[in-house]
Parts: sequence; C-alpha cells; structure tokens
Amino acid sequence: LDARPVDKFDDNDQKPIGHGRMLRKEDPRFIRGLGKYCDDIQLPGMLHLAILRSPVAHARIVSVDISAAQAHPKVKAVITGADLAEKGLAWMPTLSNDVQAVLATDKVRFQGQEVAFVVAEDRYAARDALELIDVDYDILDPVVDARTALSPDAAVIRDDLEGKTDNHCFDWETGDEAATEAVFAKADVVVKQDIVYPRVHPAPMETCGCVADYERVDGKLTLWTTSQAPHAHRTVYALVSGLPEHKIRVIAPDLGGGFGNKVPIYPGYVCAIVASLVLGKPVKWMEDRSENLVSTGFARDYIMQGEIAATKDGKILAIRTNVLADHGAFNGTAAPVKYPAGFFGVFTGSYDLEAAYCKMTAVYTNKAPGGVAYACSFRITEAVYLVERIVDCLAYELEMDPAELRLKNFIRPEQFPYKSKTGWVYDSGDYATTMRLSMKMAGYDELRREQAEKRARGELMGIGVAFFTEAVGAGPRKDMDILGLGMADGCELRVHPTGKAVVRLSVKTQGQGHETTFAQIVAEEIGIPPADIEVVHGDTDNTPFGLGTYGSRSTPVSGAAAALVARKVRDKARIIASGMLEVSVADLEWTKGSFHVKGDPTSAVTIQDIAMRAHGAGDLPDGIEGGLEAQICYNPENLTYPYGAYICVVDVDPGTAQVKVRRFIAVDDCGTRINPMIIEGQVHGGLTDGVGMALMEMIAFDEEGNCLGGSLMDYLIPTALEVPDWETGFTVTPSPHHPIGAKGIGESATVGSPPAVVNAIVDALKPYGIRHADMPLTPSRVWDAMQGHPTPP
Ligand code: CDP
Repeated sequence: LDARPVDKFDDNDQKPIGHGRMLRKEDPRFIRGLGKYCDDIQLPGMLHLAILRSPVAHARIVSVDISAAQAHPKVKAVITGADLAEKGLAWMPTLSNDVQAVLATDKVRFQGQEVAFVVAEDRYAARDALELIDVDYDILDPVVDARTALSPDAAVIRDDLEGKTDNHCFDWETGDEAATEAVFAKADVVVKQDIVYPRVHPAPMETCGCVADYERVDGKLTLWTTSQAPHAHRTVYALVSGLPEHKIRVIAPDLGGGFGNKVPIYPGYVCAIVASLVLGKPVKWMEDRSENLVSTGFARDYIMQGEIAATKDGKILAIRTNVLADHGAFNGTAAPVKYPAGFFGVFTGSYDLEAAYCKMTAVYTNKAPGGVAYACSFRITEAVYLVERIVDCLAYELEMDPAELRLKNFIRPEQFPYKSKTGWVYDSGDYATTMRLSMKMAGYDELRREQAEKRARGELMGIGVAFFTEAVGAGPRKDMDILGLGMADGCELRVHPTGKAVVRLSVKTQGQGHETTFAQIVAEEIGIPPADIEVVHGDTDNTPFGLGTYGSRSTPVSGAAAALVARKVRDKARIIASGMLEVSVADLEWTKGSFHVKGDPTSAVTIQDIAMRAHGAGDLPDGIEGGLEAQICYNPENLTYPYGAYICVVDVDPGTAQVKVRRFIAVDDCGTRINPMIIEGQVHGGLTDGVGMALMEMIAFDEEGNCLGGSLMDYLIPTALEVPDWETGFTVTPSPHHPIGAKGIGESATVGSPPAVVNAIVDALKPYGIRHADMPLTPSRVWDAMQGHPTPP
C-alpha cells in the first residue's frame, strides 16, 4: 500500500479504484464535528417525546392512570396503548411478518417494552412526566431461558396470537437429514459439541431516534430518522399508516453507526409520527443509552449443538447441527422472508463436504425482540462460529494442527462456482492461498515452536486459527425479499453541463465511507475525478428506491448498480462523441475519461466536452435526447462470497485467567478492492467487535427477566486498550458476476474474528484438557474452565 494519504485523484499515476490512500470525502465534516445527526435537527415549535417502559418482563396491564401526567404544565399529550388501539395503531408488523406492540395494550412481554408516551415542550419535562404515570401490573411468570420455553408449564407469552398455546416461534431445516446420517454412520470419527453464541447488542455510538414533522396543509410527513433502510421504512410507514407513500419523505441524516441496529422500525418512530399527526407539530424522540441497549434489536442468542464427522486422517465428511434460537418476545428478525434463520445455511463453512444438515427450533422468550444482522449477513456470524469451533474440536480430537486440518478440507479453486450441500453457490475463491499468506505473515511454525517452549515452562500461550466464507449482497429478487419488497437497488447518475456529476444511491452509509467509494466506482467508469462526483443518499425524495445498507450489501448490490449506471451514461456519451468527431461509434476508443478515434489519439473529446455538448446547442446524433444521465435498478445474479483467514495469538495469565490478545493477523479477500484505506478501517472495526464478543460482550438476564446489560458499565465493549495492533493482508479473487468484481467487506472481520479468538484461548488452555468454553471468555469464565481438570500444568 501507498502509505501516503492523497486527497485528490491524480490521473497520471493513480486509478480511481484500488489505489492506496484516497482520503474520505465525508471526513472534513466529521472531524470538524459538523456531521448532522438526528439529534442535531431543530425545528421551530418542535416538541419532545419520551417513552414509559415496562419495569418487568411479563405482566398483565390492569390499568394505566395518566391523569397526573396530563396535568403537568409542559405536557401536550399523553398516549397509551388503548389510545393507539382505538386508531388501529397499537400493533405493527415486524420485518419477519410477526406483529409487535407499538404500545402495550394487554400485557408487557419484556422489560423495557413501550407502555405509553408523553409529548412535552422539552425533553426534561417529557421525562419528568413519565414518573407521573401510574401503571398497575399483574405480574406473570417470565420465560427467560430458551431451553425451558417449550416446557408444558411455561407461561404463554404470545397469547395475543389467535390460538397460540405455547412459545414456539418457528421450525426450520436445511440440508439432507438422511444423507447426513448415512455419512455419520460410516465415519471413523464423530465429534459433538454444545456451543452457545450469546445475546449481544450492536450498540452503535448514536442511539436510535427521529424527528417527525407532519405538515397539515399539504398532508406531507417528513421523518428524519436513524434508518439504515430509508426507502423500505417509507413503504412500511405508508402501508401501516395509510398515508400515501409520495406524501412521506424519509431522511436518514448522518448516522453514528448502525451495525444492523437501525434496520428495524421501532415503536418510538411510530409514536413520534402519531404525535406529530395528532398535534400538528414536529416531534423529536431520541433514546438514551439504556433504552437502546434494553429495548432495541439484539443479535445472536443461538444455542447450538454441532457435530462433525471425519475420517481418522482428517478428511471432513459431514456437519450436522441442532439449534435452539431465542427470538425474544416478538420475532423482529431482519432477514429476507424466505430465510427465517437468515443465511445460517452457510454453516458448512469453507469446506468440501459430502453431506450437511441443520434443524432449528425458534422460541419466544420474555426478552427484547431482535435477531438483527449485527455486522453480518443474516446469521452468518453464528454459522461461521459454529463451523470454526467444531472444526477446531475435531483437530483437538485428532491431535492435528488446526491450520493443516483446514488446508486439507478447503473447497479447491477449480471447484468454483461451488454448490454447497445446503444449496449456496459460492462464486469464487482460492482459500489455500489466503490461508498460507496468513500463516506466513504470522510466522506460524515459529509461533508453534514458541508455544511448545512456553507450555514446557507452564505458560499459557494460544494460537487460534479461523477461516470464514461469507455470503453477502442480498439479494437476487427471485429468492429474496423483505415484506414483499425485492432486494434490488436503484441508482441514478446525472452529469451536469460542466462535467461535474451527481450519483444518487438507494443505500445509506452509517460511517463506512460511501460518499467516497461510490464516487470512486463512477470515476473508474466515466473518467470524471471522484472529487467532481457528488454522492447523494439517505433521502427518499432525492434517491431511487432500494432496500438499504446492511449485511455488507452496499458494494455487491448498489456498487454494481453504480458501475452499470455509469456504463450506461458512457454508452450514450460514446454516441454523442461519434457525432462530435464525425466517425462511427465503432471507430471510437475509450481511455480514462475521453473518446478518441482509433489510431489517432489527438482526435479526442473528453467526457466534460461531451457533457457540454449533450446539454448545449446544436444537433445530437439521430435518436439521442439531450442531457447526460441514466437510471437503473440492479438485480444481483447471486450473492458474493468474500472470505478470510485469521490467526490470533493470546497469552492467558495462569494466576488470574486474564486473556491478552497479543497478535491478530487478518488476511481478507473481498475481490476487487475499491478503497484500501476504507477496507482496512472496516476490518479494524470488525476485528475489535470480534474481540469484544469473544472476551466481554453479553446481554444477560436474571431469573425475573431483568436485563443486566442496560448500560455501558454492565455491557462492556472493547476499546483500544483491549486490542493489539492489527496485522492485515489481502488477496484478490474477483467475483465473476459483479461488474467490477467486488465483494462486500463491511462485516467480514466481525464474522471471522470471534472463532479465531476463542480458538486461541481454548488452545492456550489445552494443558487443562479443555476442548471448548463459551463466550464471552471473561477472566471468571476462563478461570472456571481451568478448574476441576486433573492435569493442570
Ligand atoms: O453495506 P456496507 O457499506 O456496510 O458494506 P460493504 O459493501 O462491504 O462496504 C463497506 C465499505 O468498504 C464501503 O465504503 C465500500 O465501498 C468499501 N469497499 C471497498 O472499498 N472495496 C470492496 N471490495 C468492498 C467494500
């Protein structure tokens, strides 16, 4: 990499995509504190909304007395579930075709659930007035442990659903049960392991919120909101509220992180809209940190049993898994509807297997709804963790090196496109090369030697290996929709007369640099420098329809759309150029921003010349309208399958069980790389996330269903102190079906790093005879794992 940052596109020695260090176009406003977030929106006459939340996990609502709150001098309205029910707005659809209470009417089903809201002149008065609302609860037994949710004596949480007599949410299976059983029956070695991926929270720095502004005169609702998917949200609001879709404008301003947390529609947004409709004033609602952690979309919460079958010399034959999925009180999972378990089907990992089978049961519990794709493409994180842990368990039983075991079983380059035993068509890959590069960077053999020496001295050093394949870029319309909305993305490009351009996207950046990288993609295709290309996003009135940013889908879907719309503009520019140069289209050649006559580079017109001609006086070639612009809607042919090889080195203190992540080597392959600096940042962030989940993050509950992770004092997230200097590398295996060969990268490191860290810790604890320990591996859990084994070092 060129380590020197550059802030402009230099046509002499740089290409718009893939070159070293082009600075981010959005950073001048962010580093000056000039980003404009939802809570920065101030409108004349704006009121403030606060939500009363349930203090208990499961209870029948006997009565709600709002009279004292209504009497507060600064309060403008107090609304209960009963008020919303009168207007048919007490319930709303979730992204998984379930329903969720906007405000509770009959029961509360998790601690922190929305019960009533107050609108007042300022935020403080609104919060004060919450204290004046008197709710009488008839406490019911909570269902906290998913393992007991289906027992006959468990309280039925979703008695709002007609005929519901248990806490069953859904069943799902994939793969071939009988074929897998047959392979397991003939295998030399079968290893079985219980593996839990605990409930964690995306915890973006900016919490969720919105400002709703309903203009009674023209009947238009404008909603500034923390949304990763503004167009999809607008459609859902139109369907639920009955407001015409063209009278709703959803604006997602700068977002302070999303990580999947800003995909669902939360009750608070609906409450703010209702308040603005009722009062005819703009209404702001902003969560505080605890509200965000306690009530918004959690992730993971899978209780898994993994089984792996192999020959005695380490050829993996089959993987089988049984999953109990805890979906909380409402099924708020964000995933394409045909995939209730998201893309968990990729639990076969990066390996060439004979058979695979997964059976899953999902249950309701008295916990916050969620199941959001937290920095991963719909449950891929859980799938990768399962397969990478169970493969390590096999290495343990076979006494094989975990890197060698993986190398022996990878899908080979010539097998791509590779159809997995659960039906996923992996587009391209050269896994062994990436694995070997990571081993070389790590000095793998040397590390193993060091470990052996340290073990002999009683020191606990661990080396964790993980290899992952993701499936990102949801998705092909034939397979994928959310609430009936196909997952294609629109893109519009307009070149102005002076040759400056504006590209309008349907995706929405949450900090990952789209204003830079999408300008780079367009620049690559039409030769206008990135600095001259404005990227517009996050405003439904000013961008084409598309399903938004999550699951690393922006580059695979909208990135492809941006490249193709630019090619469409270039095709038109070619025709105009042929008129300007008075030659046929076939006689023109394209080089870096200009067309010239074949064999005569001096006879050329630049894209800027063409733009002026497209808008200017004089005739254009027959059939060509004026202007230089185009719009497309891109429907991806397949997902893209980025992958990576990660190696983590830890030291565990035998006296305190404290884990130190000493080194972390991450080699990623995301196909064609658009902006290496941004990719590196995405990887650094994801690795930090992964260390957090492996070592310290968990949303826990007590027996009564009280959430024990309601603040950043209780729910620990990692800082620079807990992570090493990352050592990153890359290989490039382009996606064959993406117009520029790019695959997603946003979430790779979050997906790939937890198993690397856990594998390293378990490896460090090998002298204690430990094959597995569940995340988060806090010192107390590591300590527990170290007790009770017969052969401490
Ligand atoms: O959907 P999201 O933007 O979160 O994920 P992504 O598509 O993986 O992109 C994350 C960031 O990395 C964007 O700014 C991309 O343009 C950039 N990227 C890149 O520079 N090269 C790639 N091959 C993939 C992503």
